[in-house]
Amino acid sequence: MLSCLAGRYFNLAAFQGDDMLGFYIGEQAGPDYTLMDICVAPKYQGQGIAKRLLNAFIEHGEQHQAENLFLEVRESNAPAIGLYESAGFSHMSVRKNYYPTATGNEDAILMGMSFSL
Ligand SMILES: CC(C)(COP(=O)(O)OP(=O)(O)OC[C@H]1O[C@@H](n2cnc3c(N)ncnc32)[C@H](O)[C@@H]1OP(=O)(O)O)[C@@H](O)C(=O)NCCC(=O)NCCS
Repeated sequence: MLSCLAGRYFNLAAFQGDDMLGFYIGEQAGPDYTLMDICVAPKYQGQGIAKRLLNAFIEHGEQHQAENLFLEVRESNAPAIGLYESAGFSHMSVRKNYYPTATGNEDAILMGMSFSL
């Protein structure tokens, strides 16, 4: 089972002392790099930490010859969509009813960025 995980996932966490400010988790599949999650602790939000983490994810892709970066986000998650748009991600498609909610389901927006070779 470990061989399924080996070399496929990568991550970065930001700390202030022992306090974790935020992190991202990425996955590589060939030339495609996917941002699986990015999160900043509530008390540190709005200070540009996610922007720095996302830039580090993009730089990681660039340094490893990624061709495409992908991510999925709930359509209701305006802060995350704003973050991704400000970094240059474009809306690619919609996955209908992808995420469960307390009252039903909501769509996922698939976003991406390509590097010109
Ligand atoms: C989304 C999240 C990671 C943003 O973290 P953050 O550190 O507060 O974001 P930053 O301060 O780096 O903001 C960067 C950009 O994101 C966008 N943004 C951040 N908060 C926003 C908000 N409340 N509304 C709209 N846009 C917002 C803006 O474009 C902002 O750039 P600007 O300040 O130059 O306008 C954070 O809200 C979070 O952890 N949310 C819970 C987990 C989550 O939803 N993760 C995404 C899963 S897809």
